[in-house]
Amino acid sequence: MVTFRELALNRQSTRSFSDKEVELDKLKRICEVASLSPSSCNSQPWKMHIVRPIYPKIADLRKACQAVGLNPFLDKVSNFIVVEQTFGNMKSKAGGFFSNNDLNSIDLGILAAHICLAAEEEGLGTCMIGSFRNKIVNKAMNFGAFRRVRLIVAVGYAADGYEIRKKTRKNAEDIIDVIE
Ligand SMILES: Cc1cc2nc3c(=O)[nH]c(=O)nc-3n(C[C@H](O)[C@H](O)[C@H](O)COP(=O)(O)O)c2cc1C
Repeated sequence: MVTFRELALNRQSTRSFSDKEVELDKLKRICEVASLSPSSCNSQPWKMHIVRPIYPKIADLRKACQAVGLNPFLDKVSNFIVVEQTFGNMKSKAGGFFSNNDLNSIDLGILAAHICLAAEEEGLGTCMIGSFRNKIVNKAMNFGAFRRVRLIVAVGYAADGYEIRKKTRKNAEDIIDVIE
């Protein structure tokens, strides 16, 4: 059985994808397991939209993710999980207000992390996309003006031979503070 440490070490932002078709079952399983994510007051302020290659506006969605001049590698991506922020609940809104903390954004970040790790378990590569033009995304998704997409996860099989990079991270002693 794959351990969490292995999943965390092997998950990386995939920026080179193969043409291999991604099974819808796998994408659904990824979203189902990600829905087990914790959220403030269990508010689950999210909806995950699985965008498939046959979606007529997929090229527009891709373009929206490239509109800020980044993410050229998405040309080869045909499956996305679009993470929409929905209304959570009053308790989490109040909790966020009194602690001056954007709890729903935190919730969505945790959800997205679960999506990527669940995809890793399914043998799929992912790249979180945070740089996109909201208006164009909403248009591509037929969402109108008021719905809010917070993150888009590109999903696919990594290109053959795509290697796992060594992680570049801050030193543990600089970021882990033990107080006793
Ligand atoms: C909120 C968020 C937004 C991101 N947006 C992008 C993006 O638009 N394009 C991209 O190539 N990578 C994006 N990334 C991926 C990060 O660059 C990547 O996670 C980081 O460099 C660490 O590398 P790793 O994921 O390979 O471990 C994003 C990551 C997060 C968490």
